[in-house]
Amino acid sequence: MLNIAVLVSGSGSNLQAIIDEMKKGEINGKIVTVVSNKPDVYALKRAEDNNIPTKVIVSKGNNDFDKELLSHLKELKVDLIVLAGFLCILKGDILKEYSNKIINVHPSLIPSFCGDGFYGLKVHEAALNYGVKVTGATVHFVNEITDGGKIIIQKAVYIKEGDTPEILQRRVMEEAEWKILPQAVKMICNGGL
Ligand code: GRF
Repeated sequence: MLNIAVLVSGSGSNLQAIIDEMKKGEINGKIVTVVSNKPDVYALKRAEDNNIPTKVIVSKGNNDFDKELLSHLKELKVDLIVLAGFLCILKGDILKEYSNKIINVHPSLIPSFCGDGFYGLKVHEAALNYGVKVTGATVHFVNEITDGGKIIIQKAVYIKEGDTPEILQRRVMEEAEWKILPQAVKMICNGGL
């Protein structure tokens, strides 16, 4: 049974997708902590509603954040870190100590529309501006390169006539992110990777 930490920054819809999948009892893992870099985000309520311990570590732009996070994770013997709508860039010792044990969901088909500055709606704006016919989401391992780690799972989503960035973001979340992130967690926890 793997101890899982989920890192969040916002509404927590990806966290909710993992929680819902875990309720089916097919994932050999347990979320032992949800950590947010911001207080009062809805993701924390989702965790509390599911009796999952939470912690807020406010990012001050220096490496105190990474140090406090790393000691929290080690204290709870965390085996797998899942970035679910988490908007900080991890750096320093945590990347070494958790090499190939941190996964992230990005709302495009990497290597398109990814890297520094590509997050949230900006990703979908770029896809629509470019005029791609297909976009989607990617779950990948996290390393020192933003969105640069080994790809685990991808799922395509077709662009539709009249899509706005908001409409497209919602469809990519519903049809791709909320499916492949729990799937990746299940693969890693159940030894399928
Ligand atoms: C969305 O921008 C999504 O594309 C990206 O994170 C945000 C969702 O965050 N992966 P959350 O999981 O609802 O907090």
